[in-house]
Amino acid sequence: MAIRITPSILNADFSKLNEEILKVSSVSDLIHLDIMDNKFVPNFTFDFDRAAEIIRECPIPVDSHLMVVEPELAAPAFAEMGSASVTFHFEAAENPRKVIKSIHAKGARVGVGLKPGTEFSAIEDFLDEIDMVLVMTVEPGFGGQSFMEDMLEKVRTARAALGKNERGIWLQVDGGISPATIERAAQAGADTFVAGSAVYKSDNPAQMVTLLRDLATP
Ligand code: DX5
Ligand code: ZN
Repeated sequence: MAIRITPSILNADFSKLNEEILKVSSVSDLIHLDIMDNKFVPNFTFDFDRAAEIIRECPIPVDSHLMVVEPELAAPAFAEMGSASVTFHFEAAENPRKVIKSIHAKGARVGVGLKPGTEFSAIEDFLDEIDMVLVMTVEPGFGGQSFMEDMLEKVRTARAALGKNERGIWLQVDGGISPATIERAAQAGADTFVAGSAVYKSDNPAQMVTLLRDLATP
């Protein structure tokens, strides 16, 4: 199974993001860009213009994680800006199928995110239409929170369902991923790992990405 490490720049130094991204770009699969609107979650990150600039300047593909209300508006815009993948939250979408189609129409992969309180079964009807499931392993909104062990059961449930899918849908975990937790998440079936503070609070972010990849690789 292919393993992907997608560092989140949420805990990087926003005043020199290009430099921060360059620290990990040669050893990472995608850069995870957290977009928060201060409505879906009580925090704000980047406006559209700044996000577009980050995506344009990023030397590797960008995985945009939209923690916003009304993904009907933002999701196709983030695909159009050049994100390789756009993840929206199932809880935020009035019409998930419409959002999925609007992202695909702009040529990006589609991810669907689940907050800790949302069961995997909520998205079972959409599996044939999406490219990634994101199981949040913390409440979305902030970096540096503790990994929620009880989300491992949801990861196992998702892996059991996705195992049957021949398109090889990615299974991403986000929140509290570190050398102390990544092996358990991988054993439960995750193959795509977001790591924010573990990477950017490390003295050597690139070495941390490589360590995480080694630990997640069976
Ligand atoms: C949280 C964000 C995460 C965050 C993870 O809502 O979606 O991507 O950056 O940070 P860590 O790895 O520190 O939990
Ligand atoms: Zn995220």
